[in-house]
Amino acid sequence: MASITMNWSLLTWTNTTLAILSSLLLLYWYIRIPNDMPKNIPTIPIYISIMGLWSEMGQDDIYDKWLRPPLEKHGAVKIWFAGRWNILATKPKLLVDMFRHEDIYAKAGSQKKIPWSVIASLVGDNIINAHGENWKLYTSIMKPGLQRRITDSFPLLMKCRRFVDVLLDEQKNIDARGDARGDGGGVLVNPIIQRWALSCMGINFMNVDLECLEKPNQRLEQLQSIIKKTLFKPLFFNFPDLDRYPTLFPQRKRAFQIMQEFGDLLVETVSNRTMTTDADGSQVVDGLEKALKEGIITTEQYRANLKVTFLTAHENAQQLLNSAIWVLGTNTKIQEKLRSEIQSLISIPTGTAAGGTGTASNPNPTTDQINSLPYLYAVILELLRLYPPVSQLINRVSTSNTILGGEVSIPNHTWVGWNAFGVHTDPNIWGTDARIFRPERWGTEVKNIHGNVRSKTVQCHFIAFNAHSRKCLGQGFAVLQMKIVLFEFVRRVSWIVDPGYELKLTSGGIMAPLGLKAIMREIPQDGSVDGVSGHDIAAETDNQQPC
Ligand code: HEM
Repeated sequence: MASITMNWSLLTWTNTTLAILSSLLLLYWYIRIPNDMPKNIPTIPIYISIMGLWSEMGQDDIYDKWLRPPLEKHGAVKIWFAGRWNILATKPKLLVDMFRHEDIYAKAGSQKKIPWSVIASLVGDNIINAHGENWKLYTSIMKPGLQRRITDSFPLLMKCRRFVDVLLDEQKNIDARGDARGDGGGVLVNPIIQRWALSCMGINFMNVDLECLEKPNQRLEQLQSIIKKTLFKPLFFNFPDLDRYPTLFPQRKRAFQIMQEFGDLLVETVSNRTMTTDADGSQVVDGLEKALKEGIITTEQYRANLKVTFLTAHENAQQLLNSAIWVLGTNTKIQEKLRSEIQSLISIPTGTAAGGTGTASNPNPTTDQINSLPYLYAVILELLRLYPPVSQLINRVSTSNTILGGEVSIPNHTWVGWNAFGVHTDPNIWGTDARIFRPERWGTEVKNIHGNVRSKTVQCHFIAFNAHSRKCLGQGFAVLQMKIVLFEFVRRVSWIVDPGYELKLTSGGIMAPLGLKAIMREIPQDGSVDGVSGHDIAAETDNQQPC
């Protein structure tokens, strides 16, 4: 009897040991670096990539501590991301090669890399992640809508005006409640910014007024907040293979349902739209609908491109505006300098015929007038440089064995990508003051600022909108939208970042401050600040620290 029991325990022990050994072997096989990966660049230890599982660090801190030194020295590294080893580059020479040769470094987003995943079910095959014939097809349909010239920016200005009204109302409510430190405390800006971004996207790309500022908490808006949280869950972001088993992870089953609900609701919302600001059918949604009706694209392609337009046309601007409120709310001298440029645009001398010297204000400038402000333009570029919303992307795959920039040998079928934050803050590229927010570095006249943007983009020193063949098609709109919202916000509001707020950037995904709060004071249009003097606010917080 005793010997039977002993044999059983031995068997159990052997089975357990075998199970542990095979799990370890499997894990080793899963996370090992393939032999053919380049040897002349360093490897970022895998625990850095999965940091988000246990650490609260922002992506700027993670970059500074572990990625900056090897990347600034070697220009590229091997890095674990989305369940495999990839090459991440920041050296401009390597990036020029990558971005110029889309035939060799082909776009391949989640739909190719991890087609079973939640993110792939959200984005599908679309204009941003497609390659070859599909990309050409989507571009021919959508480019006219994406790049349509906005001669009348008044509807956009009205949405921005409404946005400022909502922020100021919220501040009044907080002040009335008298919470926080007796001065009322600041407004949590992101939820209101999201409503603004969705509204602007709706009227410009979907030809529908979603009325998010007027009617908060609609289902489409709620879904955005859920989707953003769901996508960047560190465990599933780093190990997307887990998405293969939704029955084991009920939260992922729910995530798939949410993505489906979002697609269905979006399609329903745009097909029931009544607003026809652009009755000529010139918006992206019109082009996609026409192509679907004519059988040029499938329903799946229609849905994927509608969704990606919806997401990309609001999310990046949303996060850039968060960063703007942070930067200008801590560098109030820059805020004031911008305000004086804006005020000089809108103040019109009056009574000159009668020999008077008064001024009136024109708060409704034209697109051309907005575009004539150099400092406003430079502030936005500097925001994009230091807080690029798309800070890192690894969504290209090599189509043959190749040598990136003549320096890094890349095996066939290897994913490669870039880090814009790294490029934009590298002192070898931008000088010793690379981390300082200094809009003047872009130039002082619109014409030379344009020239600078062009040359820095071509050289891949500035890649906030990517560069070369696959650069952003919404860039023109995005910059105009930012100019208009800052015009309206800076003109009417003087603000500081809530002193109780401590900066923390997102730990991955779109780069932006998390949970930002700002204390806002309305500027009566005679120039003085209501209640608190603009100067007092400025003196409190001027931030000459690197951003
Ligand atoms: C601040 C705002 C924006 C930023 C920072 C931004 C950034 C980018 C970046 C980095 C890429 C390249 C992506 C890649 O390499 O996979 C891109 C591509 C793209 N963006 Fe934007 N974007 C912005 C706004 C917009 C807007 C408003 C739209 C309008 C729908 C838009 C539409 C597109 C499209 C269609 C592409 C793909 C172009 C192609 O591959 O041919 N973007 N954007």
